[in-house]
Amino acid sequence: MLSLRLATVLLSFASAFVQAVPTQEEATNAEVTPNLVSLEKRAVTRLTPAEVASFKPYTIFAAVPPCGPTSLLAWNCTKCLSNPEFTPVAAGGDGGVIQIWFVGYDPKLDSVIVTFQPADPSKILPILTGLDVFLTPLNPQMFPGVSPAVLTHNGFAYAQSWYVTLSAVPVLSAVQTTMSRFNASHVTVVGASLGDTIAMISAVHLKIHLPPTTTFKIVTYGGPRVGNSAFANYIDTHFPGAVSRIVNRRDIAPLYPPIVGFEHPEGELHIRDDLSWVSCPGHESGDPNCLIAYISNIFGWTPSDINDHGGPYDGVTMGC
Ligand SMILES: *[C@@H]1O[C@H](CO)[C@@H](O)[C@H](O)[C@H]1NC(C)=O
Ligand SMILES: *[C@@H]1O[C@H](CO)[C@@H](O)[C@H](O)[C@H]1NC(C)=O
Repeated sequence: MLSLRLATVLLSFASAFVQAVPTQEEATNAEVTPNLVSLEKRAVTRLTPAEVASFKPYTIFAAVPPCGPTSLLAWNCTKCLSNPEFTPVAAGGDGGVIQIWFVGYDPKLDSVIVTFQPADPSKILPILTGLDVFLTPLNPQMFPGVSPAVLTHNGFAYAQSWYVTLSAVPVLSAVQTTMSRFNASHVTVVGASLGDTIAMISAVHLKIHLPPTTTFKIVTYGGPRVGNSAFANYIDTHFPGAVSRIVNRRDIAPLYPPIVGFEHPEGELHIRDDLSWVSCPGHESGDPNCLIAYISNIFGWTPSDINDHGGPYDGVTMGC
């Protein structure tokens, strides 16, 4: 009931933002905003500067797929040089129909890194509002053992549909090669924007097919909702404490699709206006320091805030 009401509120906010806020809408939002209730009782905590800095290497990985496979395999793009220890192993995609991905090993993080291309920040709104929001089960051949109640949306034509059919097998094979070449047992899946959606689905796929001793970390930036509450619970259960969903100030992308039935897993890290990072417990915290409350304040949001989607995240903007 509560989540239904919250979702309805969010839907009205999100459509208001997209369509240049009518006065009626403003009045409605002003009335409902004070009633937003935190869905989560655990306290919001502030990250230390060292904790914030620890995300920098992942932010670099998330940003660089648009540099293209040649530059990624040479690891010579300008931002690439910030992670000089990284050894690329494989890259794929064309940045058009098939989003770019790359896989390699970072000895400093002692982890295989799997990264997926973000959407172009200037195109994110049309992509999000054009979403096909039907929820469908994961392909049982590729995701054996996952309950048919676990649903993800079949939209993001550039996301999981191409991933599952075209890239899941080469990505898995590249991860296996990298694990064996570097004797690695830890895998980090990174993605920004629509790459977040693919990162979550890919992590589920990799965990099913890699040895059970493999440990995981998932780091995403500005990701939309990927699936239903069963999917969110699946991620919580299979990747406990391993998810960091970083959201920047008033980026509205994480509120898409603004439809009842979609839910984020745990792990929100919200970057506040003062650029401090806070950890928001639960699936979608209503705490004033977390994204929903930032977006809900109609007077605190302007259409140019969509630029928050591309960063900066601790000084790093998405893109080559
Ligand atoms: C990066 O390496 C590729 C492949 O060796 C080369 O074609 C390209 O010119 C290099 N780019 C830079 C910026 O050095
Ligand atoms: C590979 O790593 C495991 C621990 O993860 C270690 O026990 C083993 O000795 C390593 N093998 C090699 C060849 O380094």
